[in-house]
Order: sequence, then structure tokens, then C-alpha cells
Amino acid sequence: WFSTSDSCWLRPQHVLPLLGHGPQVLGDGRLQTTIREELAAAAAEVAPGPGTTKPGEHALLLATHEDLALTHPGMAAAVEPALVGLGPEGYVTTTHAGTDLLTAADARGLLHGFYALLRDGLAVFDGSTRREEPTCPVRMVNQWDNLSADAPMGSVERGYSGDSIFYADGAVVQDRRRVKDYARLLASVGINALSLNNVNVHGPETRLMTDHVQDVADLARTFADHGIATYLSINYAAPIEIGGLGTADPLDPQVRQWWVQASEALFAQVPDLGGYLVKADSENRPGPFTYGRTHADGANMLAEALRPHGGTVFWRCFVYDCRQDWRDRRTDRARAAYDHFMPLDGEFADNVVLQVKNGPMDFQVREPVSPLLGGLERTNVVMELQIAQEYTGQQKHACYLAPQWKQVLDFDTRSADPRAPSGAAVRDVVAGRTFARPVAGVAAVSNIGDDVYWTGHPWAQANLYAYGRLAWDPASDPDDLLHRWSRLTYPDLPDVQRAVVDILAGSWLTYERYTSPLGVGWMVEPGHHYGPSIEGYEYSAWGTYHFADRDGVGVDRTVATGTGYTGQYREPWASVYESVDRCPDELLLFFHHVPYGHELASGRTVIQHIYDTHFQGVEEVQAMVARWEQVADQVDGALAERVSGRLAEQLRSAREWRDQVNTYFRRASGVDDARGRTIY
Ligand code: GCU
Repeated sequence: WFSTSDSCWLRPQHVLPLLGHGPQVLGDGRLQTTIREELAAAAAEVAPGPGTTKPGEHALLLATHEDLALTHPGMAAAVEPALVGLGPEGYVTTTHAGTDLLTAADARGLLHGFYALLRDGLAVFDGSTRREEPTCPVRMVNQWDNLSADAPMGSVERGYSGDSIFYADGAVVQDRRRVKDYARLLASVGINALSLNNVNVHGPETRLMTDHVQDVADLARTFADHGIATYLSINYAAPIEIGGLGTADPLDPQVRQWWVQASEALFAQVPDLGGYLVKADSENRPGPFTYGRTHADGANMLAEALRPHGGTVFWRCFVYDCRQDWRDRRTDRARAAYDHFMPLDGEFADNVVLQVKNGPMDFQVREPVSPLLGGLERTNVVMELQIAQEYTGQQKHACYLAPQWKQVLDFDTRSADPRAPSGAAVRDVVAGRTFARPVAGVAAVSNIGDDVYWTGHPWAQANLYAYGRLAWDPASDPDDLLHRWSRLTYPDLPDVQRAVVDILAGSWLTYERYTSPLGVGWMVEPGHHYGPSIEGYEYSAWGTYHFADRDGVGVDRTVATGTGYTGQYREPWASVYESVDRCPDELLLFFHHVPYGHELASGRTVIQHIYDTHFQGVEEVQAMVARWEQVADQVDGALAERVSGRLAEQLRSAREWRDQVNTYFRRASGVDDARGRTIY
């Protein structure tokens, strides 16, 4: 069923109800073949038990509308109205004359519907007709995989789950079984795009588009067989590094011609390619700034080369000055993306998509929403999330991130501005609704590797599952997704299901409590970013400061006295964040520098909040450990050991965070804990 790994939420027994229903798949397209293969693989694994419907008794038909019309014209005509206006990834379930029918205008919709039947069972066939389609057109994962483990950041940059499943020793892995299993997992939650290599494209990866093109084509075919388009991260300086040109100036005709020809050659050999993902002028990567050009110049050059092939450029907005001086209080990394990209709104070609991180900094446990989301009106946008837990425990800590993502998706970027009649919550923006954009959606840094559980911490699987489902429907409830994931992952183990839900539901907030407080972020060990180092980044060039001293802590980002970042928001947020009294507690230190005695809306002082949350966070991890111990013996030994080991490390690390943070601020502030607890 799965070659060498855990099958996560995609257990073969979930196919049982379908198998018992005598499913018939019409049509011979590649996606129909995939559905048939899934059914056959499951049938080989599990035998339909007694009590399920016998084949033929109450047939289940899976067919595109076109195929249906060939063999069942009456049924096709009956269902046709339900398909009107439904996009290519949508599907319809209905029952017609005793036959349960899953149909769609396009085979992609059929595949999504098939996996929905695995996840949710056959209860949809209750006599009604239902339409379902994804909210976000783009639902992408980004692999940060490198061709070899000798790459500057190892096999997978910020990878916490072993090595790459795609590459080893400078080459593409030839045993592709794991890749296929990954494609199945992604398809089963509705992902439709994937980028194949790290956004930091170094020498070897620059040559993926030339030296490894046949392997890229094979990988792309595997993903296309699962309804997933493949993208390559490209090196902006490729015309120099592999093209032998003296420049990568986007307005130079030779450079433009180079990209046209390179793209032509690439698409000829990789027909399933979707286009490029680009990190330019960011963290020492090359880009158009070198030539005095804008990011619109750079992105549009690539867009032009991709246009004849229907390709798209995803161009990242993670552009900031990474050689800052902490003494310079005017330069603010949080401002950078907006400052660079907002003036270019409307200048990008229609096959360019700007990829904007959810927050203005870098995937911290708490950040405000990037003001580019809802700010950009005449540009295609996808929001970038990080499923990999770089700053949230690196898949050693249990930290269910869907509640964080949901909060971002629900953020109303402009509170019912009449110019955005369809709503301007981030979930509307990423649906393309707010400004009627043709392309929109979400992308996220993947959290998988060649680990047998895929994700290091087996419960980090929940983040991958929930990402896919939230991308499909950003209105989903994270708690509901957690229940569903747990039920699918631990079928027949109701106690385990409940325990895992209990542990994970509040784990993001628990993580926040024992780490950096009130939105200020960082305080991590530089470089690898695991574990506390309160001043680790305080004097470095990365622009990630908290400015704690004996009088107070936090970053003044106000217009009145600070960096002016609050001015990038639309109302009411610009005023809310500007005001130290109206700013939400959880973001206070992101926007303001305040004395330790400052009273929060909660009624506590900042310093007492720091002490209280850090003690509470550790107590909550202790409770997680105890809850797990109640059920650990119900799962297999290897899984129990893996989870218990990670929880033990989480508890150790949480204590370390608590003590380092509390001690640091006790000494800086000179204020004792009102409750007299131990601070070292
Ligand atoms: C973070 C991360 C890097 C990554 C970068 C990016 O800074 O630590 O490893 O390359 O984000 O998103 O490009």
C-alpha cells in the first residue's frame, strides 16, 4: 500500500466502504488510471468484510461528464445542471436510479472527489446532489530539497524529517516509490502544485533544468498523474552560471532570449511543468537589483518566456536587507516587502504571482499579517506558510499550526472597504475573490523527508493534512480538521484519537507561552533556530531585534515615534496597531517598546505576563506528556517510542525556554515574580 513508510491518514481500510460498493471507474485518462490503481492496491491489502454492500447491488460510478455521456446518456443529462459553472477541480455527488454517482467536468475534479470519498465515506450519497470545489485556485507545497546533503543547508533546508525523498548524492533518486506515495498523500488532501527544489538554488540545482531534465520530467509525470503541477525553483543568475552570458539584466535582449530558449527546451522535455518559483535579491541570492532593475522587470522577463507554454512565475516577496546594523533604528525588516513591492502593484504580467509570507518577518510563532495581503490589488498573490516548524519546535515539539493559519486566513485586511465588496479577509484574498484575480491561493514549505513517519514527529503529519484541507476550504475549522485527521490516522483506536486531539488542539498556544512573548519573536539560537538564546540575534545583521534593556522591551514600529511600519496597514489596523492601548496584547511587543510595568489589556503587567505564561507553558507540556501516557500502550511500540521520545525532548526544551526567558527578564527588569516561583 505504501512502499516503505507510514501511510499517515491514507489507511487502506478507508477504501473498504468504496470497495464494498462495487466501484466502476469510466474513462482511460491518467487520473482515472490513478483511481483504479488506488482501488486495486487497497483491495490487495484489505478484504471487504461481511456486511458491506455486494458489488453490483448498488453500483458506484466514477466518471467525468464526458465519459458518462458516452455510456449513460440519461444519467449524464440528469446531472448536467449540477455541473454548470463548476470549475475543473470541482465535483458532484448524486444518486440516480439506484446508482451513486461521482462526476466532474474534468478528471481532476474526479480525483478530488475520489479522495473525498476515502476521507468522508459514502454518507454523501443520501439522495441529495452536492457540489464541491476548492476555494483557492493554487494549493501548492514548496520542497526546500537540495540535490545533495553537501549543500550549504544539508539535504533539505530547514528539514526536520531526515533527508530528501527526491535527491541523494547530487542526483535524482532512482527508486521513485516514495515520491509516488508522497504524490498520493498530497493529492488525497487536495494539493495541486509542488515546487521540486529549494528556493535557494545553488550550483548543482541550477542544472536541474539542464543536466537532470529527464529525471525532472519523470518526477513531474508522477505528480501530474495525481493532479499536481510541478514547478522548478530557478536561479535568477542562470544565464550567467549556465548560459555563459556576462549578465542577468532582465532588460538585456540576450538574457531575455536565453530564458525564452531555455524555457522552450525545458517544456519540450517536461510537458507537465507548471513554471518557475523564484527567490531573487533575498538573503544574498542574485536578482534584478544588481542591474538597477525592479522586481517587475525580473518577473515579467520570466513570464514572457513561460507564456507560450502556459507557464506561471511564482516570485517571492521575501526581500529585505540582511546586512543591517542594530543601531540603525529606522531600517525595519518588517517594512521591507511592502516597501519593495507595493509601488509595483499593477506592473506584473498576468502569469506572475507574488508569493507573500503570512507575516512580515519569517514564520515566527506570532506575527501580524503581512500588509501586502489585501494591500496588493492589481497583482496576483499567493500567501506562503511554513508547514515545516522552523521556529515552532522543528518537529521535535508537538505544535499543531492550523489554528495559527486559520487566524491569518480570518484576518480582515480592511474591514469591509466598499472597494472590496466580496470581502477582504485573507481567505477572500487567497481565493482571488477580493480583487477578482484570475490566479490566487496558498503555498507552504513542506515538512516531509525520508523519515518512516514522513515528518519526524508523527503528529506533524496533522499539519500537512490540515494545510491541504485549509487550502481547499479556508473556512474549515481547525478543531474539526484535527478530529478528522486523528480519526483517519488512528482508525479503530478511539482512545488514542481523543488523546491526540486533546494534546494537539491547544499546542500552538502552549508553544507560544514557553517561547518568545507578546509577538516579539526570535530569541532563538542563531543559524539552526532551535532552542532559546535571548540575545542570539540581538546584535547581528539580520534585523531581528527585541531591544530589551533595563527599562523595557519591544520594537517601536509606530508612525509617530518608530519605524512607521504601522502605516502600511489599512484602517482600522493602522490606528489599532499604532495605539499602545488598542494594540492586541499578543502583538504588543511587535509594535511597541514598553516598560516592564506596562499594563496589558489582560490586566497583568508585561513582566508578570512573561513569568506567568512561561510557567504555564511548561505545565501544559507536562499535561501533554501525562495525557499521552494514558494511551501510549495502545499503539505499536515504534510509534509509542517515537512520540514519547519527542515529548520528553519538548518538555526538556520548554523548561529550558522558561528558565532562560524568565531569568533574562528578571535580571533586566529587577522585578520579582508576584507569585514567588523559582527563577534562577
Ligand atoms: C528563512 C529560513 C531560510 C530560508 C528563508 C526563505 O530565513 O531560515 O532557510 O531560505 O527563510 O524563506 O527564503
